[in-house]
Amino acid sequence: MPRLSGKVCLVTGAARGIGLAIARAFHAEGAVVILTDIDEDTLHAAAPGFEGRCVAHRLDVREEADWQRVIDGVLASHTRLDVLVNNAGITGFDPPSGPHDPEHASLDAWREVHRTNLDGVFLGCKHAIRAMRTNPGSDAGTGSIINISSRSGVVGIPRAAAYASSKAAVRHHTKSVALYCAEEGLQIRCNSIQPAAILTPMWDAMLGTGPDREQRLAEYARSAPLNRFGTPEEVASLAVHLASDDSAYTTGAEFNIDGGMLAGVANPPKPAE
Ligand SMILES: NC(=O)c1ccc[n+]([C@@H]2O[C@H](COP(=O)([O-])OP(=O)(O)OC[C@H]3O[C@@H](n4cnc5c(N)ncnc54)[C@H](O)[C@@H]3O)[C@@H](O)[C@H]2O)c1
Repeated sequence: MPRLSGKVCLVTGAARGIGLAIARAFHAEGAVVILTDIDEDTLHAAAPGFEGRCVAHRLDVREEADWQRVIDGVLASHTRLDVLVNNAGITGFDPPSGPHDPEHASLDAWREVHRTNLDGVFLGCKHAIRAMRTNPGSDAGTGSIINISSRSGVVGIPRAAAYASSKAAVRHHTKSVALYCAEEGLQIRCNSIQPAAILTPMWDAMLGTGPDREQRLAEYARSAPLNRFGTPEEVASLAVHLASDDSAYTTGAEFNIDGGMLAGVANPPKPAE
């Protein structure tokens, strides 16, 4: 049985990477999928692969007017919104915006990362709650909001300080949203996913395109106890679970998907050989 049959699901940053994989997995599980991204060309190139039950809209997550327009359009066309995945995010490395360490980062660069990663999630949650409150078929508003945080929201990242700060705030805001919805008597759940080392175009700025790309790739892979990068499809499987009614009793929770990175330290003590 498809697990998301009849559900209307909106994914941000869905033109590529993890967002596109989530949109594909939702579609395969029977959902109507609203693909959104700031990069319209890549988005519209991805959309035809879905064949029905799919629409694509430009949505810049930093702009409240975009949220208003797109969510109002979803309610007008589909009468409901069941799932929102706040996936769009940037590191600040592409395009480069100068250093991102706590000593040298510019205030503009710091704010730009927070605008996308944190303000975008705040706006998404705000407008999703508004829409989900009115979902037909229940007096108590229903829905699932999934925020894509990061391993970097759990531990500090010395040269990606704004990214780490914004992703930590996303974890925290997830819990405020979950508790607020529960207090309001709404059946609207909100959970976060903390991926790490998932091979997507986001990594191009860190791996480079030079001859040492493969070596860097292997080094990063070794930082995961499972000794490999994860795939966008593996994150998408978790998102399907959180979107579906299988997780109906799960809210305000955090899910690591990191090959075991956060389970321990990188170089644990062991007996001498
Ligand atoms: N790839 C990883 O290893 C990893 C690890 C931890 C967390 N994440 C998080 O997962 C999410 C997806 O990452 P990814 O690796 O697929 O990245 P990606 O760079 O491949 O894709 C991100 C997408 O977001 C879109 N986007 C950027 N700014 C936007 C805006 N203002 N409005 C709307 N869309 C915008 C981009 O156009 C792009 O299509 C991000 O939030 C990222 O921080 C990724």
